[in-house]
Amino acid sequence: MAILSVKQTGGLIGTTDIPGDKSISHRSIMLGALAEGETRITHFLPSDDCLNTIKCFRQLGIEIDYSPSEIVVYGRGLTGLQEPTNILDVGNSGTTIRLLSGILAGQPFTTFITGDDSIRQRPMERVTRPLQQMGAQIIGRQAGNLAPLAIYGGNLKGISFISPVASAQVKSAILLAGLFADGWTEIQEPAQSRDHTEIMMRGFGVTVEKEGLCVRLQGGQSLKACDIQVPGDISSAAFLLVAGCILPNTKLVLHDIGLNPTRSGIIDVLQAMGAKLTIENQQASGGELLGDIVVESSQLQGITIAGDIIPRLIDEIPVIALAAACANGTTEIRDAAELKVKESNRIATVAKELSKLGVDITELDDGLKIKGGRKLQGCEVESHGDHRIALTLAIAGLKAAGETIIQQAECIDVSFPNFVRVIKQLGGEAQFHD
Ligand code: S3P
Repeated sequence: MAILSVKQTGGLIGTTDIPGDKSISHRSIMLGALAEGETRITHFLPSDDCLNTIKCFRQLGIEIDYSPSEIVVYGRGLTGLQEPTNILDVGNSGTTIRLLSGILAGQPFTTFITGDDSIRQRPMERVTRPLQQMGAQIIGRQAGNLAPLAIYGGNLKGISFISPVASAQVKSAILLAGLFADGWTEIQEPAQSRDHTEIMMRGFGVTVEKEGLCVRLQGGQSLKACDIQVPGDISSAAFLLVAGCILPNTKLVLHDIGLNPTRSGIIDVLQAMGAKLTIENQQASGGELLGDIVVESSQLQGITIAGDIIPRLIDEIPVIALAAACANGTTEIRDAAELKVKESNRIATVAKELSKLGVDITELDDGLKIKGGRKLQGCEVESHGDHRIALTLAIAGLKAAGETIIQQAECIDVSFPNFVRVIKQLGGEAQFHD
């Protein structure tokens, strides 16, 4: 178990790249595997989660060349996957298990799929139920709700599904299964979740229709390989955006960050809180918006964050809670009960760990209430095995007086493998110890 120690800093200055977007990296392997031809991917995120997706697809018979500068996926078309000879292990990756379940539901063979302690406690019913309705046979603990899952697929028929949660993982699993189904598959969500799957499917030549919050596609469409340049992950950039605001004497420039409007809620929220944050060089690539973000030390003001913006910043809430702790006034985050079923129960873990550092934070049923303005004091804190909690605490450590020691910090590699190098390059002090 690795410990990360972080010291209070007088400020961070500099320009940096942010590792590739995790959601897009996963999907580039998955769609590349189902496409005909060679898909070349640059700026792929080499994190534990995405490497687990590569491992799973290799077990399904897909050849993938991996080098730090480029990944080549040798797609075998819609019918090219092979029955794996052993259990697939997704590690900590919810995106891998849920999206891959959609693909496996369309395969005429049996697959066993599992993950780490956290994955085996997270709800899978949200994907297994609709996939069963489409005709897949899926067995898991708690009547198909918990991994390990056994999936025997094939002979799917399209369904029209109304999802009770705004979840891109649910939407994507159903759309991926829909590629293998007879007829039309349609999903309606209660609020817009991230739309990378739809954008990328179109890039691979699939016709995906969208009407309001309803997305549909016709089964049997083939995918054609394409080149993918993965933008910087706004969910990783979020840690530096908050650092940029809350630390003194700080100015950061983050290059080529994904600005897809279904993901950019953090920018809206920080600007509404009074952040000095601007976007430059905005451009489109592969259907995705990207640009440079410039942020500097700012006096933030508390706000209320609720409603349809929540899915647009769901992964950033832990670090937004930290921004709120350093703001004047009170911040309330509501309609975010989904946080309870992430890599950890993030309502509980954020509240528990930030309060150790001196933050006035209260757990709500569907969110958090933070009274800003207290001084943070460095101490020993715990990641709960959740990468976004560890990263939030590391940024808190740059602000807090003295030194902050983060236990079980190796989970940072799940999404931001070069985090410590980036912090040091910008002038901060952070160090891993065994
Ligand atoms: C993801 C979707 C989100 C997000 C997760 C990645 C994706 O989850 O929290 O980190 O890549 O589709 P939900 O779709 O369950 O909200």
